[in-house]
Parts: sequence; C-alpha cells; structure tokens
Amino acid sequence: MDLVIKNGTIVTATDMYEADIGIEGEKIVAIGKGLSGSKEIDANGMMVFPGFIDVHTHIEMPFMGTYSSDTWETGTRAAAFGGTTCVVDFIIQSKGGSLQAALDEWNKRATGNAYIDYGFHMGMTDINDDTLKEMETMILEEGIPSFKLFFAYKGSLMAEDDGFYKALEKAGEFGGLIMLHAENGHIIDLFTKRLLAEKKTEPMYHAVSRPSILEGEACQRAIALADLAEAPLYIVHNSCLEAVEAIHEGRERGLPIYGETCPQYLTLDEERYTEPDFNGAKYVMSPPLRSEFDQDALWFAIERGDLQVISTDHCPFFFKGQKEMGKDNFAKIPNGAPGIETRMAVMYTAGVLEDWITLNKFVELNSTNPAKMFGLFPQKGTIAVGSDADIVVFDPEKEVTLSAKNLHQNTDYTPWEGMIVKGYPVTVLSRGKIVIEDGKLAGEKGWGKFIKRDRFYPL
Ligand code: URP
Ligand code: ZN
Ligand code: ZN
Repeated sequence: MDLVIKNGTIVTATDMYEADIGIEGEKIVAIGKGLSGSKEIDANGMMVFPGFIDVHTHIEMPFMGTYSSDTWETGTRAAAFGGTTCVVDFIIQSKGGSLQAALDEWNKRATGNAYIDYGFHMGMTDINDDTLKEMETMILEEGIPSFKLFFAYKGSLMAEDDGFYKALEKAGEFGGLIMLHAENGHIIDLFTKRLLAEKKTEPMYHAVSRPSILEGEACQRAIALADLAEAPLYIVHNSCLEAVEAIHEGRERGLPIYGETCPQYLTLDEERYTEPDFNGAKYVMSPPLRSEFDQDALWFAIERGDLQVISTDHCPFFFKGQKEMGKDNFAKIPNGAPGIETRMAVMYTAGVLEDWITLNKFVELNSTNPAKMFGLFPQKGTIAVGSDADIVVFDPEKEVTLSAKNLHQNTDYTPWEGMIVKGYPVTVLSRGKIVIEDGKLAGEKGWGKFIKRDRFYPL
C-alpha cells in the first residue's frame, strides 16, 4: 500500500474503533490491524476522522460593493489547515445573466487554484423561464443539484415568493434541492430605512434591523410553499429559536425540511455588536448573532435532529478597508465573517468537550450528513473501503489559542480571537495526498478538483 495511517482511533458517524487505514492512490483500500505501507503515519493517541465537508462558503464572491477576501488559493488552503477537505461554494448569478455564465465565471476563478476538492451550489437571483430551464442542465449535466435563493437582500439578491415557488417545483421535479436564506427582506429594508433616518448608524443597528421573528416568518412561509410544491427544502444558517421551531413543526408533519447552523450562531452572541471602536462590524453577518437563549435552542435542535448540518457561511472581509466601508452606515458594512479554518476546532471544543454532541454526532454534522445531503456520499463523508482517502488526523490534546495572526484565512481578524481550543487537526489528506503534515503545509494549489455531485436523496 502507498500509505498507511497506523494505530489511530477511527471515528465515523456510527462507529469508533482502533484500526489502521490503508491507502492506494486516491482511495481507501483496506481497514484493519497490522497494515503496512511504503509510507506510514503514526496516529497513536490521535482520532482519525473522515475529511470534513463545508457546504456553505463564499470564496472570492462579489458582494456589497467588494469581494469576499479569500481567493480560491487562500480559502481552500485555510480550509485544509482546519481539517476541511471539501467545500461546496455558492456561485452567484448576476441579475440578467445566465446560470451558465455564472458557472463559467466561478470555474475561471477556482480551476487550478484549489488545495482541496470542491463543488458548487447555484445562487439564483433572477428566476425566469430561461433560468428555470437551466436548472435542469445544472442538475442533470453539470453536477450542481442545489440552488440557493434569498428572501433577504432586497434590491440585490432577493427572490419573490412566486419565483421561489417556481424554483421549488423545478427542483422537486428533477431531483434538485432548494436552499433558502430565510429572512423577510421587505421588512428588514423598512426597518433599515427607519433606523438610518433616526441617525442610528452603528453596527449594533444591523441586528436591530433584522429581529429573529423575521427569520421565523420567512421559514414558516418557505416551508408552507415547499409543502404546496411537494419539494424538499434546506434552510441555511439558522440562527434562532423561531427558525428551528418552524423547521421542527414542518418535520413533525413529515415534510422533507432540513437545516444547518454555523459555529458563530452556536458560540457567539449579540453582545459582540457593542464592542467599541466600530469592532462590532466584525460580526455583521446575516442573520445576525442572537441571544444565548437562541444558542441553546440551536443545540437542542441539533440534538433532536431538526438541524442536520454544521457549515461555516465563510464570507470573510478585512476589517480595515472592507468592514470600514460602513463606518457611517451599518447597511454598507459587507455582510459576512471568516470561519472556514476554525470550524472543527471550535465545534470540538464547544460541542464535544461541552457535552452538547458526541464524537459520532460531530462527524455526522460536519462530514457525513453534508456528504449525504449534497450528493457526495459515499465518495466522501466516511471512512470506508472505496471512499476517497480524505482523512483528518486530529490531536485531541493539542491546545491552540485562536488568533488571526496564526490562522491562514486571508483577513485581519477572526471572530474567535483569543479563544483557547483543545483538539486540533494535525495531518490532513485529500484523495490520498498529504496536504497538511504535522500542522505544516504539504499540499499544492491545483490539486483540488471540481466534484460533480449526485441528485438530492432524502436523508
Ligand atoms: O452575512 C452573510 N451571511 N454573508 C454571506 C451571504 C449570505 O447571506 O450567506
Ligand atoms: Zn445567506
Ligand atoms: Zn452564506
């Protein structure tokens, strides 16, 4: 065998056991005791996880008058350092442009630059007969079976209910999955204008302009429409009780409704917006950070199975020069924050070590369910003979103080600055190639390739 990972504790979504993993070329070819290979990695005392999959990233995305600051090179490299071996990134269609043109643009940026594998979702901003027809090509030919629509961002990305409904019908018919940003953009726009007219311009008013009830309302409306269209629905970046209550209610009725949340909503709260010297802008994202009470509601929703996935919504901007665009107007602060590199360490520390989730659940939420829901399983998302050798050797004792200075994301801050995490990826394999070795870069840009994904199958 080309490579053997020896003596580690393998953890999948269902099992935990001690065994070696044998790799030939890009695939896992054996799992058992006493394997040997031309190269061996000693994983004694380590946990060995399937590569983690981040199904919500915005790399090099044009947004709010600027671009998210990670390129395909820097973003996928940072992901690898953090134990992520596959990302599914959001293409954003230009208003008036075709889906194909948007795909071409994303391909141009990503091809030859990624350290790890990647797929695309199609963000639809213009729903018409042509783009509805193009959805079929995306699902059946391009390996892009998932489509994000926005109920927020009035005047730029926002979809209306009729367009959303037509997209649901099309996805339902062809095996696609609609992903929704659920916030009521009309009312947010109204509140934003009122706040600015009262000269309430600071970052904290971003949160005031988008109360959680508007997220709950958008979830309820979308679930009702998905029910009517007989289509599955996946609600992205859930942040609050109202959202998970709506999802719970839909699932109790037997509807195929799914949802994700992100480390920021599980570990940070709205107090951050009051940080002095405009620092609250670092946390301006949509939906905004909520209360500690909402954090608990999200953990309980994970426990109940109402939320199946943890992703990052990685959408980084520099504080200097980019977040500062909204110095005098919170509505001009680019929405989004970095997180592609810190997800696994933050979720292990705040989730597993705090007893919110088991180790198996940690793998299920961050690797296996993302792979299953987004057409990557069993190629990715588990450790099994025949699967890609995307593997993370994780040191459960390694302590790291998170800081932008030591991270590899292309930005000047992290929302978790100063957090001490225990448990960190040390060696990371992408399709059998070592990309991170003992915490150091060993991979190369261009190794990561586009993965065509299968159609949606219910979990
Ligand atoms: O604030 C956020 N979440 N920015 C990225 C775009 C989106 O809505 O996911
Ligand atoms: Zn969104
Ligand atoms: Zn997003």
